[in-house]
Amino acid sequence: MKTIFSKQDKIDGILEEVKNIAGILWERGWSEKNAGNISVLLPDRIQLSELSGSDEYKLKNSFPALKQQCFYMTATGKRMQDVAKSPTRNGLFVQLNKSGDGYLIVRQTFNTIQPTSEFLSHLGIHNMIAERRTGETVVMHTHATEIIALTQYSKIKNSEDLNRILLGMHPETMVFIPKGLGLVPYILPGTQAIADATINSFKDHDIVVWKKHGIFAIGKSLTDTFDHIDIVCKAARIWFQCKSAGFEPEGLKDDQLNELKKLAQKFNS
Ligand code: 13P
Ligand code: ZN
Repeated sequence: MKTIFSKQDKIDGILEEVKNIAGILWERGWSEKNAGNISVLLPDRIQLSELSGSDEYKLKNSFPALKQQCFYMTATGKRMQDVAKSPTRNGLFVQLNKSGDGYLIVRQTFNTIQPTSEFLSHLGIHNMIAERRTGETVVMHTHATEIIALTQYSKIKNSEDLNRILLGMHPETMVFIPKGLGLVPYILPGTQAIADATINSFKDHDIVVWKKHGIFAIGKSLTDTFDHIDIVCKAARIWFQCKSAGFEPEGLKDDQLNELKKLAQKFNS
């Protein structure tokens, strides 16, 4: 039988992982100041709402697949290097209401703390995952320098252009990111428009890149999600290093990529 203690252990485990990964994001230079945000669907449906005296905040949209679900989420404006020190002072727990069109801040350490400004993208992505039942629990956004730099290249106009470069840089990209990266054009951050474009792009891709802004990844754990970002950033660095050395990277050939795609299918089945 599950006890409240086992749930608490799971939450403590998630918070430890948040500390670790937030620290790495900052050390990489991908999450300067408050750049980037993380949300994690908590295991089981933890009825933390009873512990809270908070008001319910209404949402313009409804997230029906997330009814009553609880999330850990980084707070808006909080520095990622501080999240690494204390995920609870720099983040919060939210629970969606019974209709999925509002939320409670359920374990609020400080009165002024609010969820990330990319809340709509995070909730929208979690809602899409819940509907398709693929089991990812983490949504991570960071300002990955290599990827932002790549999107400044005027010849990269769409997802196909981006994937043509990145998937051929090393075998791991195709194996672990087989559906490739989606490229969302520049849209004002924090808006419903960028959230809609992101959710749409995740339908066909494993990772979504925001032009001139950053990257969004999903995964079954924080480490798994970070690894996806790490793999594509390495691909981008290889491309830049070849270019800086003065030659055009050859990239993997189509038959080599197809072979890797088959391997990925075996790997992920
Ligand atoms: P928040 O501090 O609101 O999470 O914003 C950071 C960010 O990266 C916005 O895109
Ligand atoms: Zn951002």
